[in-house]
Amino acid sequence: MAGWLRTYPVYFPGREPRGYQESLEAKRPKPLIPGGVRTTGWWVEAGKTVFREIDVPAARTYDPEIIAAVRSMEAMQKAGVKPEADGTIAGLRWVPTPRGLALSVHECGGCHTRVLPDGSRIDGAPFQGSGNAVLGRLVTRAIETLFGDDPAVWRWRSSAVPWIPNDPHEKIRTMQPADLRALFRRVVPGAFARFNGSPFYPAKTPDLIGIRDRRYIDHTATHRLRNQGDLMRYAALVSCCDSADFGPHRMFSDSQRRIHYRFPDEVLMALATYIDSLEPPPNPNLGDPRIAAGRRVFEREGCRGCHTPPFYTNNKLTLAEGFRPPKDHPLAADIMDLTVGTDPGLALRTRKGTGLYKIPSLRGVWYRGRFHHDGSIASLEEWFDPARLRHDYVPELLRNSGITSRPVKGHEFGLNLDAAEKAALIAFLKSL
Ligand code: HEC
Ligand code: HEC
Repeated sequence: MAGWLRTYPVYFPGREPRGYQESLEAKRPKPLIPGGVRTTGWWVEAGKTVFREIDVPAARTYDPEIIAAVRSMEAMQKAGVKPEADGTIAGLRWVPTPRGLALSVHECGGCHTRVLPDGSRIDGAPFQGSGNAVLGRLVTRAIETLFGDDPAVWRWRSSAVPWIPNDPHEKIRTMQPADLRALFRRVVPGAFARFNGSPFYPAKTPDLIGIRDRRYIDHTATHRLRNQGDLMRYAALVSCCDSADFGPHRMFSDSQRRIHYRFPDEVLMALATYIDSLEPPPNPNLGDPRIAAGRRVFEREGCRGCHTPPFYTNNKLTLAEGFRPPKDHPLAADIMDLTVGTDPGLALRTRKGTGLYKIPSLRGVWYRGRFHHDGSIASLEEWFDPARLRHDYVPELLRNSGITSRPVKGHEFGLNLDAAEKAALIAFLKSL
């Protein structure tokens, strides 16, 4: 497998800086990790480059047809590809390699970076788009090459939970491409059915800023987060090295479980150091005159019991509706004996199913903009709208998807405030 190399943005045709293509052709392959003395500052800087640039080496392509297509405005428009506000195409990277210029897929930074409407980038904030046709093609090819699976079988292998009676994922294995696409249209932009996740019960991409203050990883607390080592192991698992063994259930064949590549420790350490160092962007909402009143509503409504300052989470876990943990549960000290009643599917019917939902931090809700563990809620206004409980409710983000009923149940805190109090509460939350 080719080495870990510097990579460069892919611009939508016509949006690149002057002379960009020529400068790219002239670039030599460069190692992703630079030389130098390993000071703390060095790790943060190296990690920033890794986070912003690391690609999926298995997805690299030299195919002249695909490369010509991403450079053709006509082909990109025809494929429905849209540029980000800074002119780049999300999820793609150019990689100068010893074999020539490759097109590749962005790793961590592809999902964990948000481009604001003014073109500025926030490292660690969640991407809110939904990928594009070129990206889909590169990923499909990589899966075929590494695992020999067609898309439906791969999706089944990624999500199946054969130990659950009537596993809803079983039918994915034989789905026709059109049905598979329809299934994935139910996942809102900004959420993602990752390996081990599920298109029926997706999880939104979380904010990585402030992660050093959290005690658990993933919405369902699949992993503890005690130190950088935990973050490094998680990064290795999600990028290459999950054996997908669940007791007697083995989701890979012997040849598929071979590890094809793995991030070197230095890359993982740099990544974890940088992610730990991320700070939120300057908050433009601090001058809102309603903040003080909103803070009082927050106190009075008991939000702080769970969303406790200064992190606006008490770092505890709640029960998914229907789950009773055994008395000797290893995380018992952190489990609150209550449920907020949100959809239990992710926590009970997927491989991420711990039976638990962690209490999310409320810091950064002003730039994150996707709420509820599946990301189906677009704004705080929608989150605090009691209409979302109704049987015939369809979240704003899913109104063109053909879905006619998708209520977002549970977490009824703050739903019945009067308009002025609700606006004040939201102004307060946007100041965090
Ligand atoms: C294809 C999109 C995608 C890519 C690429 C990706 N992630 Fe994620 N990441 C997600 C999603 C979705 C979740 C939420 C999973 C869940 O809650 O079950 C997540 C969760 C996380 C979390 C847990 C955060 C928390 O507060 O719970 C960390 C840490 C993380 N990712 C780091 C990384 C790193 C490091 C990489 C690169 C090796 C990476 N991710 C690549 C989509 C992605
Ligand atoms: C009993 C604990 C508890 C209380 C009390 C509580 N919350 Fe939550 N809150 C949660 C949990 C758990 C979630 C995650 C639910 C999910 O996604 O399934 C959550 C999610 C949220 C979210 C969405 C965050 C995101 O990133 O998706 C917001 C906003 C929020 N709460 C605000 C509040 C406010 C404001 C109050 C008071 C009016 C409040 N909460 C009271 C436990 C609580």
